[in-house]
Amino acid sequence: MELDVAAWLVSAEAAPWLERAAGERDSESLGAADRWRRELPVDQAAAVLTQASLRRAAVGKLGETASHLFLTRDGVEQATRPAVARWRADRFAASGVAGVWDLGCGLGLDALAMVDAGLAVTAVEKDPVTATFAAANLGAHARVVVGDIEDLRGDVPLEAGVFLDPARRTARGRSWDVADLSPSWDVVSGFADGRRVACLKLGPGIPYRLLPDHGETVWVSDHGDLVEAALWAGAGAGPGRRSALLVPAGAGLDATDDALPVGPIGSWLYEPDPAVIRSGAVPALAATLDATGIAPGVAYLTAEEHRPTPYAVAFEVLDRLPYREKDLRAWVRQNRVGTLEIKKRAIDVDPAALRRRLAPKGPEVATLLLTPTPDGAVALVVRRT
Ligand SMILES: C[S@@+](CC[C@H](N)C(=O)[O-])C[C@H]1O[C@@H](n2cnc3c(N)ncnc32)[C@H](O)[C@@H]1O
Repeated sequence: MELDVAAWLVSAEAAPWLERAAGERDSESLGAADRWRRELPVDQAAAVLTQASLRRAAVGKLGETASHLFLTRDGVEQATRPAVARWRADRFAASGVAGVWDLGCGLGLDALAMVDAGLAVTAVEKDPVTATFAAANLGAHARVVVGDIEDLRGDVPLEAGVFLDPARRTARGRSWDVADLSPSWDVVSGFADGRRVACLKLGPGIPYRLLPDHGETVWVSDHGDLVEAALWAGAGAGPGRRSALLVPAGAGLDATDDALPVGPIGSWLYEPDPAVIRSGAVPALAATLDATGIAPGVAYLTAEEHRPTPYAVAFEVLDRLPYREKDLRAWVRQNRVGTLEIKKRAIDVDPAALRRRLAPKGPEVATLLLTPTPDGAVALVVRRT
């Protein structure tokens, strides 16, 4: 989109058109485009209609506020989910910083949460259209600067908190490789040198070796989706601390250096939340559940008794079969299983292809969980709680 169209879109002149477009049934249809082009210049008509469909599509990810925000497709894809942004903003506020510089603010979803948390925000964005939208989204509550972080880094005062959510898109699509970050990993990690309060939003797959010893990393999952690794540095960050955080529940679990003992499969099985797995908190979770591992390197836990936990999905173990297709096919047939879910860990099989080969037919529903054990691979028949 051209900058002049973006500037028009956020102006008072466009507001009634945006309101009208929100009621347009199919804003992406050719019919709508034709009708709107009779009333507005082509690029303005297209911008209004695109905005209406982006807003509708973004409500699922960003909540009802999306229907009032100015959006771009990339910006929505890269935006932080509101519950995660709120957590980050609250932590910045609790750290006592004078304000936060959001370096690479995108459409400003994190910055919005920071404003809501009462923080003074300076938001920097190099893409002029995105910056125009961020300024409109943040209103008078934040200062938006159009510019390159690499040029502005000397301007950021040490007493301000810094947040960086680097862009992770390459010509190959979305990437979590630090070599693909914009701004570069050198620039981004330079802010986390411990001299100021800083938070870097990183891909959950970030290798531990890239995390500085003085920093604290929180792997965050939202409704079970692992969304980021937040590296915190400066005052309040526990050196070397790694933890899992579940939003919106707000529950947090610290990783320990303990090893995970392996034990026999009991009556219950737990599948830890991906944030627990990535942060290395599985042994800590096992300790709270009085559970053991199933096999070395396999992130399932087992116990004789069930203890409800937000950090894992619990399954009751109903039966235990050898992992042999012939036996599994016979079991599926005898139990008249027509709807079959297959979960697996550390077993080289395509669950969808296996399901087809097991030819499920009948009224019953079942879940099979395939896993190695020290005594060989097994298929556990489980029931989700
Ligand atoms: C992942 S998005 C930020 C999303 C934001 N946290 C949110 O929740 O809405 C990263 C943004 O950084 C901007 N960016 C990348 N490199 C930059 C640079 N060197 N200077 C300023 N902005 C930059 C990109 O244009 C992009 O909009």
